[in-house]
Amino acid sequence: MHAVFRPSGSEHAGRQWRAFHLIVLAAGLLAVALLSVEGLPPSLDRLLTVIVEAVAIVFFAEYVARLWTAPESARFAGLSDGMARLRWALSANGLISLMAVVPIIAVTSGTIHADSDAVPIFCVLWILKLNVHAPAMNTLARVIANERASLASVVIIFVMVLVTAATFTHLLERHRQPELFGSIPDALWWAVVTLTTTGYGDVVPHTVGGKMVGSVVMVSGILVLALMTGILATGFSEEERRREYLRVWDQVTRVPLFTQLGTVTLSEIVSKLRVRHYPARIVVVRRDEPGDSMFFISEGEVEVRLTRGSVTLSQGGFFGEMALLDRLPRSATVVTSQPTTLLVLYASDFYEIAANIPSLVEAVEHEARRRRAENLGTVAKTDAS
Ligand code: CMP
Repeated sequence: MHAVFRPSGSEHAGRQWRAFHLIVLAAGLLAVALLSVEGLPPSLDRLLTVIVEAVAIVFFAEYVARLWTAPESARFAGLSDGMARLRWALSANGLISLMAVVPIIAVTSGTIHADSDAVPIFCVLWILKLNVHAPAMNTLARVIANERASLASVVIIFVMVLVTAATFTHLLERHRQPELFGSIPDALWWAVVTLTTTGYGDVVPHTVGGKMVGSVVMVSGILVLALMTGILATGFSEEERRREYLRVWDQVTRVPLFTQLGTVTLSEIVSKLRVRHYPARIVVVRRDEPGDSMFFISEGEVEVRLTRGSVTLSQGGFFGEMALLDRLPRSATVVTSQPTTLLVLYASDFYEIAANIPSLVEAVEHEARRRRAENLGTVAKTDAS
C-alpha cells in the first residue's frame, strides 16, 4: 500500500490510484465550486452535497491508510511504528492530508452542515492535495535552495530598483499628483505595478521626468523577470541532470560490460547514458532504419528478429552496436518481450567513448563480429545475453 501511495511510483496500481485520486479531487472541487452558485435546483444541490460527503470520506480513508503505512517509508527507518506515524502526521504531507479530512470531521461532528456557507473553505483545503500529483515540488524546493544566492541577488536588484524608482517619482510627481505620489510608500504601489510589468494603469506619472523613470522601471522589470526565469530554468536542468546521473548509476551496475571498468571511466560513461523504460512488445529499433544509438539492457528482455529466426537478449546484453560500427542501416528489428529498462548511448557519445575507452568498444566489436558471422550462417546460432 505504501508503494502505491508513492508520488512517482511507476507500478500499475500506483498509477491507477493517482488517476482515481485526481478524479475524486476534481469531482470534489467541482462540487464545492458549484454549491457556491445561488439558486441551484434542490435535486442538484442534494447530489452535489452527496459528492462532497463521498469525497471527504475517501480522503479520510486515505489519511488513515497513509498514517498506517508511514513506518514503511525509508525516511523513518529505525524509528518505532508509533514514532514513524507521529513524524509523518507532523510532516508537511501529513498536515496537508489532515487538513483535507477536517471537512469530514466538521460535518460528522455537526460543527457545520454539508451545504452550509463554510463549505467553500473545503476547496482551499482540498486543492492542497494536488501536491500528491506534483512530485516535482521537491525538485522545485531543491532548485530554490541550490540557487538561493543567485535568486537573492535578483531580489536585491528588484528592491533597489523599486525603492529608487519610488523615491524619484515621488520627488518628480508629488506636486502634480499629491494624493498618488505624496509619499514614498504611496509611490511604491506604482513602482511595484510597473516593475512587475503588470501596469494596471490606475496610477500613471504625468511629468516628463516621471515618464522617463517609468520607462526605465518597465525595462528593468523585464530584465529582472528574465534573470529570475533563467536562474530557475538552469537550476531545474542541473537538478534533472543530477537525478538522471543517479538513475543511470543505479542501472549501470547490472551490465557486466560496465562493471569491469574503473570508477573514473565508469563515471565518464554514466554521464553519457540515458535511462529509458519500455513496456512489453515495443519496437526499439527497426530493420533498415538508420541507427543513431545503441542500447544496454539493464532489466528485462528483448527479441532480435533476424531474417532467419530470432535471438533473445536479456539483462546485461546490448544491441544496436552494428549500425554504429559499420555505419549501415539496422540489421534486425528489436522488440521488447517484457517490460524492459534500457541504457541508451547516442552515436556521437559512442564514437567519443571509442576514442577514450578502447577496451569497452573492443568488447562490443568482438561481439558484433560474432553476430555478423552468425547471421551469415558461418557459426551456430546461440541465445546470447
Ligand atoms: P543494429 O544492426 O544496429 O540493429 C539491430 C541489432 O540487432 C544489431 O545492431 C545487433 O545489435 C543485434 N543483432 C543482430 N544480429 C544479432 C545476432 N545474431 N545476435 C544477437 N543480436 C544481434
